[in-house]
Amino acid sequence: MIKNIYKPIEATIEDIITETANIKTFVLKPKEKFEFKAGQFIELTLPGMGEAPFTPSSDPNIKEKIDVTIMKAGRITTSLHSAGKNISVGIRGPYGKGYPLEKFQGKDILIVGGGVGLAPLRSLLLSLFAEIEKYNKIVLRYGARSPHDIIYKELIPKWAKLDRVNVMTTVDVGDDKWQGNVGLITTILKDLPVDLKKAVAIVCGPPVMMKFVSLKLLDVGFKHGDIYLSMEKNMSCGLGKCGHCRLGSFYICRDGPVFTYEQLKDTHDIWD
Ligand SMILES: Cc1cc2nc3c(=O)[nH]c(=O)nc-3n(C[C@H](O)[C@H](O)[C@H](O)COP(=O)(O)OP(=O)(O)OC[C@H]3O[C@@H](n4cnc5c(N)ncnc54)[C@H](O)[C@@H]3O)c2cc1C
Ligand code: FES
Repeated sequence: MIKNIYKPIEATIEDIITETANIKTFVLKPKEKFEFKAGQFIELTLPGMGEAPFTPSSDPNIKEKIDVTIMKAGRITTSLHSAGKNISVGIRGPYGKGYPLEKFQGKDILIVGGGVGLAPLRSLLLSLFAEIEKYNKIVLRYGARSPHDIIYKELIPKWAKLDRVNVMTTVDVGDDKWQGNVGLITTILKDLPVDLKKAVAIVCGPPVMMKFVSLKLLDVGFKHGDIYLSMEKNMSCGLGKCGHCRLGSFYICRDGPVFTYEQLKDTHDIWD
């Protein structure tokens, strides 16, 4: 029998965690074995609505459940936000290459997230924390629009207390209670506690944020090949067959979604 590569496996929404007014984390329990690496993505089907790509935000070492942190953007994500616990969804994948953890060993790892872009980075952070002795240090810089837009509010302070981990958060606009930095993410990329001779930077967020963060990182001295970017485009097959996700000479689903700046720097529509 020919295997249908587009057929999803069934998963149940076991729990839903409200992160912000427009971002929720869905805890999925797949009915069959499903494994992924940090940075790989899945296609999630909401029956009767269609499917959309998301990058799991949970620890890849935990095999029995998958978290996906989803921002309300349009048709499918709005329906998902209105869905209740215990409904069935479909998942297929994982797709893409994910983060090359072996290349990060012994290095100072700078992780820069913007908004819901911290979701795939949470999966990466949890993978790194699981074998923290392999890495020199982990520096997390996270930016959100306002204190209300910060996701993983309870986890971030816990991460900040870990050995070898340095965390700083900023918001574009503060409020009466906010005591942290106020300003765009680039304002907390100065005086980074990393040794540029052995540092890599991993960036995920909206295109405009990734553009200005990349320029800032180049400005402070990161090499083109040491900046890793998570790219997004509208997708369809997820399998390198339909061409929807073309970016220059690459298909994001097949060749990414993680690319180095070196790979993309000559692509003219990189930030569109
Ligand atoms: C590899 C990958 C991983 C992703 N991971 C996450 C994640 O972890 N969490 C999360 O919240 N979102 C993630 N996204 C974005 C998510 O796929 C889109 O928000 C979702 O497809 C929108 O579907 P919709 O039906 O709700 O919106 P639609 O009704 O289809 O569209 C709403 C708006 O979003 C735009 N849009 C639609 N699909 C995409 C897309 N794939 N990328 C960018 N813009 C899009 C449309 O052009 C339109 O402006 C990821 C996208 C990719 C490609
Ligand atoms: S989504 Fe079809 S080729 Fe990438």
